[in-house]
Amino acid sequence: MRNDPSLRNSKSKPEQSIGIFDSGPGGLAVLKYIMQYLPAENVIYLGDTARQPYGVQDPSKVRGYTVEACTYLDESGAKCILIGCNTASVAGLGAAQEILPHRPILGMIESGVNALSTRISDPIIGVWGTKLTVTSHAYKNAIQKFDKNLIVHEVACPDLLRLAEKGDIQDKEHIKNLCKQYYEPLRQKHISTLILGCTDLTCVRKEIEDVVGKNVEIIDPAEEIVQRTAFLLKASDLLNPQKETDRSYDFLITGENKEDFKRFVTEFLGLESIHIRSVSLQAR
Ligand code: DGL
Repeated sequence: MRNDPSLRNSKSKPEQSIGIFDSGPGGLAVLKYIMQYLPAENVIYLGDTARQPYGVQDPSKVRGYTVEACTYLDESGAKCILIGCNTASVAGLGAAQEILPHRPILGMIESGVNALSTRISDPIIGVWGTKLTVTSHAYKNAIQKFDKNLIVHEVACPDLLRLAEKGDIQDKEHIKNLCKQYYEPLRQKHISTLILGCTDLTCVRKEIEDVVGKNVEIIDPAEEIVQRTAFLLKASDLLNPQKETDRSYDFLITGENKEDFKRFVTEFLGLESIHIRSVSLQAR
């Protein structure tokens, strides 16, 4: 099932950063797993906060944003780019790969399906995502390409995502109620596996697990994309040899509200002294 781009011919160097891009803070889920699986890697994180949410916008617009963001990360010296956003992966992964053929770019959908293919035990799968992701049927199509007998039910969960987008994840009871509401149509279909098809969901994973219970396996594509990256970097001799304590994280956002972003980074990732810069992706 693994069908990954090679990093060996990318002229990348081990010291270069991994680039992560999302519409906002959701892609920090990917950074969370980088901290776990690739703790010595430098990271440039780009959140297009000025133009979020992507999930309710026209796919052609999101495609353009994705190409701009990946180009920015490429020009900033990223050795590979992880699109830490399901919505942007649906709308723009192909276009970004076409425009930047020299730079390995990985997306979320094939990551989620990769993870599924190694763990599937039952043919009924649920997917939560943004409106754009769900209406594109990207997960359903990719899963059924892998095995046409698998049954896939996709549900958009906008109110749950909005909380994470705003970094508003303190009210656990409210989060659980939203989880119950969005889980109900999937519970009625007797799903055994739930794919978190939006990176914003990782920060409320605990509440999701509480609601769906132990009998439903949760698949987090944010974890799988990092495992794929670890595998690729290792296979291509591109793991950063520096000590973990020397790693650096560079946070870039397109909006002005650095305080909310910083609060969320501290709360979700436990990183205290971080520096955030505002950048513009347009008219460069
Ligand atoms: N984090 C994005 C995703 O994984 C969605 C957030 C948005 O709508 O901008 O799909």
